Amino acid sequence: MRRTLVLLPMLGFVAAGFGLAWAWPWIAAKMTSGDVPAATIALGKTLYGKHCAACHGRNLEGQRDWKSPLPSGRMPAPPHDASGHTWHHADGVLLRITRDGPAAVVGGGYRSDMPGFGHVMDDDEIRAVLSFIKSTWPDQERQYQAEMSHREQEEAQ
Ligand code: HEC
Repeated sequence: MRRTLVLLPMLGFVAAGFGLAWAWPWIAAKMTSGDVPAATIALGKTLYGKHCAACHGRNLEGQRDWKSPLPSGRMPAPPHDASGHTWHHADGVLLRITRDGPAAVVGGGYRSDMPGFGHVMDDDEIRAVLSFIKSTWPDQERQYQAEMSHREQEEAQ
């Protein structure tokens, strides 16, 4: 009887330790990328590799001289890391650019080498790709972009 009394609190301690170890990746993911689960970021990373990396770079570095027009007059693919300006745009804009393509979003006969991806990915998959991209940004860029998205939502109301 006495032995069980000593053992029970110890078991509780061990169980709490296991609980924390199990939940840690989830807690860490929450801390680094807002409310987005790690599995969504992982899916986004895979989809990025499949659909975006060819132009925007495996490490999100974009195409060379991305600020100067190509001989065709169209723009090269910009980086999606902090050196680009993807983080200047609110969530809704990023979703539309990816789903419908830059030409449709800019309008006025604008021509772009980037197609829309609405026929290969649904909105949730596109959001996963964008969550992956966001997860690579430093705090400052991520906070700025979150603020832009917040404003966009307020204006839509
Ligand atoms: C065939 C090449 C190509 C592929 C593939 C491609 N893009 Fe692009 N992307 C571009 C180009 C070129 C631009 C510059 C827009 C323009 O034409 O002015 C661009 C611009 C963008 C922008 C706007 C960035 C900004 O700073 O304004 C976003 C967002 C974007 N792409 C997301 C994606 C995502 C997400 C994928 C994958 C699902 C993807 N792109 C796949 C070529 C590509």
